[in-house]
Amino acid sequence: MNNRRKIVVIGASNVGSAVANKIADFQLATEVALIDLNEDKAWGEAKDSSHATSCVYSTNIKFHLGDYDDCKDANIIVITAGPSIRPGETPDRLKLAGTNAKIMQSVFGEIVKRTKSAMIIMITNPLDVATYVVSTQFDYPRNLILGTGTMLETYRFRRILADKYQVDPKNINGYVLGEHGNAAFVAWSTTGCAGFPIDDLDEYFHKTDKLSHEAVENELVQVAYDVINRKGFTNTGIAMAACRFIKSVLYDEHTILPCSAVLEGEYGLKDVALSIPRMVCADGIMRSFEIHLTDDELEKMHKAAQSVRSALDGAGIK
Ligand SMILES: NC(=O)c1ccc[n+]([C@@H]2O[C@H](COP(=O)([O-])OP(=O)(O)OC[C@H]3O[C@@H](n4cnc5c(N)ncnc54)[C@H](O)[C@@H]3O)[C@@H](O)[C@H]2O)c1
Repeated sequence: MNNRRKIVVIGASNVGSAVANKIADFQLATEVALIDLNEDKAWGEAKDSSHATSCVYSTNIKFHLGDYDDCKDANIIVITAGPSIRPGETPDRLKLAGTNAKIMQSVFGEIVKRTKSAMIIMITNPLDVATYVVSTQFDYPRNLILGTGTMLETYRFRRILADKYQVDPKNINGYVLGEHGNAAFVAWSTTGCAGFPIDDLDEYFHKTDKLSHEAVENELVQVAYDVINRKGFTNTGIAMAACRFIKSVLYDEHTILPCSAVLEGEYGLKDVALSIPRMVCADGIMRSFEIHLTDDELEKMHKAAQSVRSALDGAGIK
């Protein structure tokens, strides 16, 4: 019986180490290999995580320093390599496009020499640029490349509304779509709370400070920079988002989640990667949904496309 599940995490800093540890918490792998240009860092993170597997509550997952040959038999490869926005820097992930596109070319060049069958979960920012680069510049099955995209903004959206109405964030549904970054937008027409229309919540919860769509959208974008400016980085929310996708793949869940991939004519857009609802299963992205959006939401989707496309153009990426 082969119950082996191997996950390779590339980039072993704040995000990569958090993803590796959440994989252990949720018992999503039997083996986790960590790769980083900084081998000492990857070795240290792998060794530290391996010590936690001795705890009676832990699963005996094999954590180790990896190299690219680990990709040959990996089920899933999570890419977190490359720098992030630092505290105090201009709050726009797109400025990382040039640097991180080159890192993606180097990392993915090594991956494609070893496998074309592993599910790729992209996390490196600018997420939609990174997802576009690896999807279009390499001969790798497109259905197996998934960018975490606006899953994280969707979590942030749920938390903001949950705090406003004092409900479980998991009761809040609907999508944040578009760019993972400043042009993310709430598709308000898809939102609700436990079956109530979102705009009825003020009435049900007797709120006098009325829900402002604009304020929520501003907050869900700004809060990432607020966390970076205070904590230094973000890693916990994105690690949970990554594990949500990993679980959908490993359990063949056919879950519909917002995530990024190259658009193929949805909303009249192509040559750019953005988040829309997509069905995720053991074969990766099984299908994408061009759900009905209002005119205002459509305009925001097109603005997100322009924003990501101009970053691609700026970095000289066709
Ligand atoms: N998609 C999301 O929602 C989301 C959320 C948080 C962070 N991020 C992104 O994740 C990435 C990692 O964040 P972090 O805080 O861990 O960054 P970090 O700067 O602390 O670490 C980046 C790591 O990448 C490694 N690296 C650089 N080039 C490499 C290469 N060619 N091969 C292997 N490793 C290489 C570095 O040695 C370093 O350890 C950033 O791009 C960040 O913006 C994305």
